[in-house]
Amino acid sequence: MNALEVIGVSKQFGGVAAVDDLSFAVRRGSIYSIIGPNGAGKTTVINLLSGIYRPSAGSIRMMGEAVSGQSTDKLARLGLSRTFQNLQICMNMDAISNVMIGGHVRLDSGFLPALLHLPRIRRHDAELREEARALMAFTGLSQYHAAQASQMPYGALKRLEIARSLAARPKLLLLDEPAAGLNHVETDEIRALIEQIAATGVTVVLVEHDMKLVMQVSTRILVLDYGRKLAEGRPEEVRSDPRVLTAYLGAAA
Ligand SMILES: Nc1ncnc2c1ncn2[C@@H]1O[C@H](COP(=O)(O)OP(=O)(O)OP(=O)(O)O)[C@@H](O)[C@H]1O
Ligand SMILES: [Mg+2]
Repeated sequence: MNALEVIGVSKQFGGVAAVDDLSFAVRRGSIYSIIGPNGAGKTTVINLLSGIYRPSAGSIRMMGEAVSGQSTDKLARLGLSRTFQNLQICMNMDAISNVMIGGHVRLDSGFLPALLHLPRIRRHDAELREEARALMAFTGLSQYHAAQASQMPYGALKRLEIARSLAARPKLLLLDEPAAGLNHVETDEIRALIEQIAATGVTVVLVEHDMKLVMQVSTRILVLDYGRKLAEGRPEEVRSDPRVLTAYLGAAA
């Protein structure tokens, strides 16, 4: 069973095809990585999957349901959650509130009940706070549970993004460069965290430049180049593919 199917998807920006007739499928419960040089179209794929962009052509199916062109809210309710390449943390808020924001997508509370402070909302808030605290523990952030986001080091903020994305209780989690800017120790912690998340049954789509991390965690890897599929397969297949070595690993080395 596939968590995700991308069928002939393109995305044009003006005359430029950032994603060009791309097809791939992600099996439920797997860790599926998307790699490729800068500007290859990785973030554009994530933005297409999360409903920020609408495909210029092609279709996307999530958990067997056609979702192309659906709003980000609808996709979130279907079980999709993501992190951002550039941190999207509210720096003027405390850490736990940032995590709680991620849980609000689950509530169908609407504006009026919130305005009236109905008991149901207050109860939800207490539950969200409790769950956010547990997620901060899960992501190794217990020491920051009373911290302001602005006081946290960069590596902890990267994990706070993941904690927030998990507060939505996703079935499908999109991670856009979770290890960018991290040192070796922090990257290894992120690797362990991604594996723990996948072990809970969440399907993970990972965009990442760190090859060691990608080769260690991925069930399958998609290599993008100029918005097109250059190669796709298990880590050992992709690693030894001459086209990949030339276009990507060669260029990086
Ligand atoms: N909103 C946009 N408007 C116009 N062009 C865009 C837009 N977003 C992306 N592009 C272009 O699409 C191409 C793919 O960009 P994208 O950000 O998806 O690459 P990427 O693989 O994520 O790169 P990186 O590794 O640097 O994050 C690039 O040429 C980029 O300039
Ligand atoms: Mg990107």
